[in-house]
Amino acid sequence: MSVSIAEAIREAAQTLRQGSVPDARREAGSLLQHVIDRDRTFIITHGEDLMTPEEQQSFRECVARRAAGEPLQHITGRQAFFGLDFEVTKDVLIPRPETELLVETALPLVDEGPAAPSICDVGTGSGCIAVALLHENQRATAVGIDLSMEAIQVARRNAVRHSVAARISFLVADCLSALGTGKPIFDLVVSNPPYVAGSALEGLQREVRDHEPRLALTPGVDGLTIIRRLLLDSGAFVKAGGHLLMEIGFDQGAAVERLIDRTNWKMLDIHQDLQGIPRIVALQKITS
Ligand SMILES: C[S@@+](CC[C@H](N)C(=O)[O-])C[C@H]1O[C@@H](n2cnc3c(N)ncnc32)[C@H](O)[C@@H]1O
Repeated sequence: MSVSIAEAIREAAQTLRQGSVPDARREAGSLLQHVIDRDRTFIITHGEDLMTPEEQQSFRECVARRAAGEPLQHITGRQAFFGLDFEVTKDVLIPRPETELLVETALPLVDEGPAAPSICDVGTGSGCIAVALLHENQRATAVGIDLSMEAIQVARRNAVRHSVAARISFLVADCLSALGTGKPIFDLVVSNPPYVAGSALEGLQREVRDHEPRLALTPGVDGLTIIRRLLLDSGAFVKAGGHLLMEIGFDQGAAVERLIDRTNWKMLDIHQDLQGIPRIVALQKITS
Protein backbone atom coordinates (compact mmCIF):
# COMPACT_ATOMS: atom_id res chain seq x y z
CA MET A 1 0.00 0.00 0.00
CA SER A 2 1.33 3.43 -0.91
CA VAL A 3 1.90 5.84 1.94
CA SER A 4 2.27 9.60 1.69
CA ILE A 5 5.27 11.50 3.01
CA ALA A 6 3.13 13.06 5.77
CA GLU A 7 1.72 9.69 6.86
CA ALA A 8 5.14 8.06 6.82
CA ILE A 9 6.53 10.79 9.07
CA ARG A 10 3.61 10.49 11.49
CA GLU A 11 4.08 6.71 11.81
CA ALA A 12 7.85 7.00 12.09
CA ALA A 13 7.59 9.64 14.82
CA GLN A 14 5.40 7.25 16.81
CA THR A 15 7.92 4.42 16.44
CA LEU A 16 10.76 6.73 17.48
CA ARG A 17 8.80 7.95 20.53
CA GLN A 18 8.26 4.31 21.55
CA GLY A 19 12.03 3.89 21.21
CA SER A 20 12.56 6.86 23.59
CA VAL A 21 14.09 9.04 20.88
CA PRO A 22 13.76 12.71 21.85
CA ASP A 23 12.53 15.18 19.23
CA ALA A 24 10.94 12.24 17.39
CA ARG A 25 9.10 14.18 14.68
CA ARG A 26 12.13 16.22 13.68
CA GLU A 27 14.30 13.09 13.56
CA ALA A 28 11.67 11.27 11.48
CA GLY A 29 11.80 14.19 9.03
CA SER A 30 15.60 14.07 8.90
CA LEU A 31 15.57 10.33 8.19
CA LEU A 32 13.00 10.79 5.44
CA GLN A 33 15.08 13.59 3.90
CA HIS A 34 18.00 11.16 3.85
CA VAL A 35 15.99 8.33 2.26
CA ILE A 36 14.39 10.37 -0.52
CA ASP A 37 17.41 12.68 -0.86
CA ARG A 38 15.40 15.90 -0.57
CA ASP A 39 15.60 18.92 1.73
CA ARG A 40 13.27 19.89 4.58
CA THR A 41 11.37 22.41 2.43
CA PHE A 42 10.49 19.70 -0.09
CA ILE A 43 9.15 17.47 2.66
CA ILE A 44 7.03 20.24 4.16
CA THR A 45 5.60 21.27 0.79
CA HIS A 46 5.04 17.73 -0.62
CA GLY A 47 3.31 16.00 2.30
CA GLU A 48 0.72 14.42 -0.01
CA ASP A 49 3.30 12.86 -2.40
CA LEU A 50 3.31 9.06 -2.33
CA MET A 51 6.49 7.15 -1.52
CA THR A 52 7.63 4.23 -3.65
CA PRO A 53 7.68 0.74 -2.05
CA GLU A 54 11.52 0.86 -2.09
CA GLU A 55 11.55 4.20 -0.30
CA GLN A 56 9.07 2.94 2.29
CA GLN A 57 11.18 -0.16 2.96
CA SER A 58 14.39 1.82 3.25
CA PHE A 59 12.69 4.38 5.53
CA ARG A 60 11.31 1.62 7.80
CA GLU A 61 14.81 0.16 8.16
CA CYS A 62 16.33 3.57 9.04
CA VAL A 63 13.57 4.28 11.58
CA ALA A 64 14.07 0.86 13.21
CA ARG A 65 17.82 1.51 13.55
CA ARG A 66 17.23 4.93 15.09
CA ALA A 67 14.54 3.58 17.46
CA ALA A 68 17.07 0.97 18.64
CA GLY A 69 19.44 3.77 19.69
CA GLU A 70 21.77 4.20 16.71
CA PRO A 71 22.72 7.88 16.27
CA LEU A 72 20.97 9.71 13.43
CA GLN A 73 24.35 10.70 12.00
CA HIS A 74 25.49 7.05 11.70
CA ILE A 75 22.40 6.35 9.62
CA THR A 76 22.64 9.43 7.40
CA GLY A 77 26.48 9.36 7.35
CA ARG A 78 26.76 13.11 7.82
CA GLN A 79 26.92 15.96 10.30
CA ALA A 80 27.09 19.72 9.78
CA PHE A 81 30.01 21.45 11.50
CA PHE A 82 31.00 25.09 11.16
CA GLY A 83 28.73 25.43 8.12
CA LEU A 84 30.29 22.44 6.33
CA ASP A 85 28.86 19.00 5.69
CA PHE A 86 31.14 16.28 7.16
CA GLU A 87 31.12 12.55 6.49
CA VAL A 88 30.86 10.58 9.71
CA THR A 89 31.09 6.83 10.33
CA LYS A 90 31.07 4.66 13.42
CA ASP A 91 34.87 5.12 13.53
CA VAL A 92 34.81 8.83 14.36
CA LEU A 93 33.27 11.04 17.01
CA ILE A 94 30.24 12.88 15.65
CA PRO A 95 31.35 16.55 15.60
CA ARG A 96 29.71 18.50 18.44
CA PRO A 97 28.41 22.09 18.50
CA GLU A 98 30.70 22.96 21.46
CA THR A 99 33.72 22.09 19.33
CA GLU A 100 32.72 24.89 16.95
CA LEU A 101 33.76 27.21 19.79
CA LEU A 102 37.27 25.73 19.53
CA VAL A 103 37.36 26.68 15.84
CA GLU A 104 35.92 30.14 16.60
CA THR A 105 38.60 30.70 19.23
CA ALA A 106 41.38 29.45 16.96
CA LEU A 107 40.45 31.48 13.89
CA PRO A 108 41.50 34.98 15.06
CA LEU A 109 44.78 33.53 16.37
CA VAL A 110 45.45 31.94 13.01
CA ASP A 111 44.30 34.97 11.01
CA GLU A 112 46.36 37.46 13.04
CA GLY A 113 49.43 35.22 13.17
CA PRO A 114 52.07 34.62 10.52
CA ALA A 115 51.34 34.80 6.79
CA ALA A 116 51.18 31.01 6.40
CA PRO A 117 50.16 29.58 9.77
CA SER A 118 50.98 26.00 10.57
CA ILE A 119 48.49 23.97 12.64
CA CYS A 120 48.57 20.58 14.34
CA ASP A 121 45.23 18.92 15.24
CA VAL A 122 45.78 16.12 17.76
CA GLY A 123 42.98 13.52 17.79
CA THR A 124 41.63 14.77 14.48
CA GLY A 125 38.82 12.17 14.21
CA SER A 126 36.59 13.20 11.29
CA GLY A 127 39.05 16.04 10.64
CA CYS A 128 36.32 18.58 11.41
CA ILE A 129 38.55 21.05 13.34
CA ALA A 130 41.51 21.08 10.96
CA VAL A 131 39.36 21.03 7.82
CA ALA A 132 37.14 23.89 9.09
CA LEU A 133 40.23 25.96 9.97
CA LEU A 134 41.85 25.39 6.57
CA HIS A 135 38.57 26.11 4.83
CA GLU A 136 38.36 29.47 6.63
CA ASN A 137 42.04 30.41 6.29
CA GLN A 138 43.27 29.68 2.78
CA ARG A 139 46.95 30.28 3.70
CA ALA A 140 47.11 27.81 6.57
CA THR A 141 48.52 24.28 6.46
CA ALA A 142 47.87 21.49 8.93
CA VAL A 143 48.85 18.07 10.22
CA GLY A 144 46.01 15.90 11.54
CA ILE A 145 47.03 13.15 13.98
CA ASP A 146 44.96 10.25 15.25
CA LEU A 147 45.68 6.88 16.79
CA SER A 148 42.88 5.40 14.70
CA MET A 149 43.70 4.52 11.08
CA GLU A 150 39.98 4.25 10.33
CA ALA A 151 39.39 7.79 11.61
CA ILE A 152 42.25 9.14 9.49
CA GLN A 153 40.64 7.60 6.39
CA VAL A 154 37.42 9.50 7.13
CA ALA A 155 39.37 12.72 7.83
CA ARG A 156 41.18 12.37 4.48
CA ARG A 157 37.86 12.09 2.63
CA ASN A 158 36.54 15.15 4.46
CA ALA A 159 39.65 17.11 3.47
CA VAL A 160 39.03 16.18 -0.17
CA ARG A 161 35.32 16.95 0.12
CA HIS A 162 36.11 20.49 1.29
CA SER A 163 39.03 21.08 -1.11
CA VAL A 164 41.77 21.43 1.52
CA ALA A 165 43.55 18.09 0.90
CA ALA A 166 46.59 19.78 -0.68
CA ARG A 167 47.22 21.71 2.56
CA ILE A 168 46.83 18.92 5.11
CA SER A 169 48.78 15.78 5.88
CA PHE A 170 47.68 13.02 8.21
CA LEU A 171 49.56 10.82 10.63
CA VAL A 172 48.43 7.69 12.44
CA ALA A 173 50.27 8.22 15.71
CA ASP A 174 50.04 8.40 19.48
CA CYS A 175 49.64 12.15 20.14
CA LEU A 176 52.84 14.01 19.16
CA SER A 177 55.15 11.01 19.51
CA ALA A 178 55.80 10.60 15.76
CA LEU A 179 57.00 14.16 15.27
CA GLY A 180 60.57 13.48 16.36
CA THR A 181 62.77 15.55 18.61
CA GLY A 182 60.52 18.49 19.20
CA LYS A 183 61.35 21.39 16.91
CA PRO A 184 58.95 24.34 17.31
CA ILE A 185 57.20 24.01 13.96
CA PHE A 186 53.58 24.88 14.74
CA ASP A 187 51.88 28.21 15.30
CA LEU A 188 48.91 26.41 16.80
CA VAL A 189 48.35 23.01 18.39
CA VAL A 190 44.65 22.35 18.72
CA SER A 191 42.87 19.37 20.21
CA ASN A 192 39.51 18.04 21.25
CA PRO A 193 40.98 15.07 23.10
CA PRO A 194 39.07 12.15 24.62
CA TYR A 195 38.31 13.50 28.11
CA VAL A 196 35.46 11.49 29.66
CA ALA A 197 36.53 9.76 32.90
CA GLY A 198 36.39 5.97 32.64
CA SER A 199 33.88 5.83 35.51
CA ALA A 200 31.52 8.28 33.72
CA LEU A 201 31.10 6.16 30.58
CA GLU A 202 28.14 4.17 31.88
CA GLY A 203 26.17 7.39 32.53
CA LEU A 204 26.44 8.64 28.94
CA GLN A 205 23.44 8.67 26.55
CA ARG A 206 23.00 5.26 24.85
CA GLU A 207 23.71 6.81 21.43
CA VAL A 208 27.14 7.89 22.66
CA ARG A 209 28.00 5.04 25.03
CA ASP A 210 26.98 2.19 22.73
CA HIS A 211 27.84 3.62 19.30
CA GLU A 212 30.67 6.16 19.36
CA PRO A 213 34.29 4.89 19.50
CA ARG A 214 35.60 4.33 23.05
CA LEU A 215 38.97 5.67 21.93
CA ALA A 216 37.32 8.98 21.02
CA LEU A 217 35.45 9.29 24.30
CA THR A 218 37.81 8.33 27.09
CA PRO A 219 41.50 7.92 27.79
CA GLY A 220 40.45 5.95 30.92
CA VAL A 221 40.89 6.83 34.60
CA ASP A 222 40.19 10.52 35.38
CA GLY A 223 39.83 11.63 31.75
CA LEU A 224 42.86 13.91 31.93
CA THR A 225 45.56 11.63 30.48
CA ILE A 226 45.74 13.13 26.99
CA ILE A 227 45.27 16.69 28.29
CA ARG A 228 48.24 16.15 30.66
CA ARG A 229 50.36 14.81 27.77
CA LEU A 230 49.46 17.74 25.51
CA LEU A 231 50.32 20.23 28.25
CA LEU A 232 53.67 18.52 28.82
CA ASP A 233 54.70 17.64 25.27
CA SER A 234 53.25 20.24 22.91
CA GLY A 235 55.40 23.12 24.20
CA ALA A 236 58.37 21.67 22.34
CA PHE A 237 56.48 21.86 19.03
CA VAL A 238 54.86 25.29 19.38
CA LYS A 239 56.75 28.39 18.27
CA ALA A 240 57.33 31.13 20.85
CA GLY A 241 54.18 33.28 20.92
CA GLY A 242 52.19 30.42 19.35
CA HIS A 243 49.15 28.79 20.94
CA LEU A 244 47.73 25.59 22.41
CA LEU A 245 43.93 25.30 22.42
CA MET A 246 42.12 22.36 23.98
CA GLU A 247 38.51 21.45 24.56
CA ILE A 248 37.93 20.08 28.08
CA GLY A 249 35.14 18.31 29.96
CA PHE A 250 32.39 20.22 31.81
CA ASP A 251 34.02 19.70 35.23
CA GLN A 252 37.73 19.80 34.33
CA GLY A 253 38.46 23.56 34.36
CA ALA A 254 40.02 23.78 37.83
CA ALA A 255 42.01 20.55 37.44
CA VAL A 256 43.39 21.65 34.06
CA GLU A 257 44.36 25.08 35.42
CA ARG A 258 46.42 23.33 38.10
CA LEU A 259 48.24 21.26 35.46
CA ILE A 260 49.50 24.24 33.44
CA ASP A 261 53.24 24.92 33.68
CA ARG A 262 53.24 28.73 33.89
CA THR A 263 56.94 28.95 33.03
CA ASN A 264 56.07 27.55 29.59
CA TRP A 265 52.50 28.76 28.99
CA LYS A 266 50.61 31.98 29.57
CA MET A 267 46.98 31.27 30.37
CA LEU A 268 44.88 33.47 28.07
CA ASP A 269 41.38 32.31 28.94
CA ILE A 270 39.00 29.42 29.45
CA HIS A 271 36.15 30.21 27.06
CA GLN A 272 32.66 29.22 28.13
CA ASP A 273 30.22 27.40 25.87
CA LEU A 274 26.59 28.46 25.31
CA GLN A 275 25.60 26.80 28.61
CA GLY A 276 28.23 28.82 30.49
CA ILE A 277 30.48 25.76 30.96
CA PRO A 278 34.26 26.36 30.80
CA ARG A 279 35.16 24.52 27.58
CA ILE A 280 38.11 25.88 25.63
CA VAL A 281 41.47 26.38 27.30
CA ALA A 282 43.59 28.93 25.42
CA LEU A 283 47.31 29.09 26.19
CA GLN A 284 50.16 31.05 24.63
CA LYS A 285 53.73 29.75 24.54
CA ILE A 286 55.96 32.08 26.51
CA THR A 287 58.79 33.65 24.53
CA SER A 288 62.05 32.42 26.11
C1 LIG B 1 36.96 13.52 21.21
S1 LIG B 1 37.52 12.81 19.69
C2 LIG B 1 37.71 14.29 18.71
C3 LIG B 1 37.54 14.07 17.25
C4 LIG B 1 37.47 15.39 16.44
N1 LIG B 1 38.68 16.15 16.59
C5 LIG B 1 36.27 16.21 16.88
O1 LIG B 1 36.48 17.24 17.54
O2 LIG B 1 35.13 15.85 16.57
C6 LIG B 1 39.17 12.37 20.12
C7 LIG B 1 40.00 11.73 19.01
O3 LIG B 1 41.30 11.44 19.57
C8 LIG B 1 41.75 10.19 19.07
N2 LIG B 1 42.73 9.67 20.04
C9 LIG B 1 42.52 9.02 21.19
N3 LIG B 1 43.68 8.74 21.80
C10 LIG B 1 44.66 9.22 21.01
C11 LIG B 1 46.09 9.25 21.09
N4 LIG B 1 46.72 8.71 22.13
N5 LIG B 1 46.78 9.82 20.07
C12 LIG B 1 46.13 10.37 19.00
N6 LIG B 1 44.78 10.37 18.88
C13 LIG B 1 44.06 9.81 19.87
C14 LIG B 1 40.49 9.36 18.93
O4 LIG B 1 40.67 8.31 18.00
C15 LIG B 1 39.48 10.42 18.47
O5 LIG B 1 39.43 10.49 17.06
